[in-house]
Amino acid sequence: MGLIDSFGRRITYLRLSVTDRCNLRCRYCMPAGGVPKLRHGETLSYEDLLRVSREAVSLGIEKIRITGGEPLVRKELVDFAGRVAAIPGLRELVLTTNGLQLTETAAPLRRAGVKRLNISLDSLRPETFSYITRGGELQRVLDGIAAAEAAGFPPVKINVVVMRGVNDEELLDFAALTVDKPWTVRFIEYMPTLREEGWREHCVPGREILRRIGERFPLLPMVSAEMAGPARNFRISGAAGAIGIITPVSGHFCDQCNRIRVTAAGVARGCLFSGEGLDLKPLLAADDHDLLRRGLRSLIVGKPGRHHLENGDVGDGTVAMSRIGG
Ligand code: GTP
Ligand code: 5AD
Ligand code: SF4
Repeated sequence: MGLIDSFGRRITYLRLSVTDRCNLRCRYCMPAGGVPKLRHGETLSYEDLLRVSREAVSLGIEKIRITGGEPLVRKELVDFAGRVAAIPGLRELVLTTNGLQLTETAAPLRRAGVKRLNISLDSLRPETFSYITRGGELQRVLDGIAAAEAAGFPPVKINVVVMRGVNDEELLDFAALTVDKPWTVRFIEYMPTLREEGWREHCVPGREILRRIGERFPLLPMVSAEMAGPARNFRISGAAGAIGIITPVSGHFCDQCNRIRVTAAGVARGCLFSGEGLDLKPLLAADDHDLLRRGLRSLIVGKPGRHHLENGDVGDGTVAMSRIGG
């Protein structure tokens, strides 16, 4: 069923960041020096993550997404995924990854019960990819996607954070990719999560992305499926794949938001841009099932209505994406 929050939204989706570590340092996500890392005891144990997940499912969460940092850098992630996938009542376990380790992990993840993969891939040009990720190797991600397909995953979703002057010249290349590949390429407006000056110059509004692609390829709107997420989807006539636009800045989708998150530090948050959140660690330490349940319930019901990014308001705390998991 899912709990209904105070704005009438049904909350059925939990995003679980299992680590703040990453094997890349994407420019939109981390400053050059990286962000201070959590110490080992500060990240929730798998046992605690499972307790939170079970409680959340009993409160009506139907879909869990494992995120990071990069989730696959945490040891024994595949085993953990298998235990989450087995929670009775959970309909869908999915994962967002940078794809670097998929050649080794795609098949085990699939066997563990992960249903779908979203892959961050911001450029199809090796040098630009390396620039954005500060040293990443494009071919490894492409090999990872091939491994996911070979392992029997449904067609992947590719997340492209669009940055003017960095990768926006590749909009048409990414769009063209969907003609032959069954992938969904989703263009995401760049969000000022690092509170950087001048972020608006880099942020390409979703309507501009659509216009630029539409001038070359006629785009047909698609009807969104249930649990489809924040993207508006389109298809180039006759294409195997699809194109999605995620507009957190220009056209926030907060009125349909169905999600809560747990950060790598064990803080549950109603909104990506809400301040404090609820520290789950004391609740877990108290080992009181009812306390945890009440905490999660109040977080869900009291979820904030919306963010105010369009006014330049990035909330009252830095949103370190590596801890929140997007
Ligand atoms: P699907 O369920 O497959 O649609 O995935 P998803 O879009 O929920 O998850 P994914 O991890 O692929 O995130 C895609 C992009 O949407 C990322 O840039 C996220 O930061 C952004 N995003 C996801 N959820 C939210 C949200 O609640 N608010 C905002 N502002 N952005 C979000
Ligand atoms: N703006 C937009 N999307 C971002 N992501 C990370 N940081 C940002 C940002 N500043 C996206 C990544 C990843 C997803 C989980 O979050 O592309 O695919
Ligand atoms: Fe939901 Fe907050 Fe994201 Fe809006 S900004 S869609 S309320 S998580």
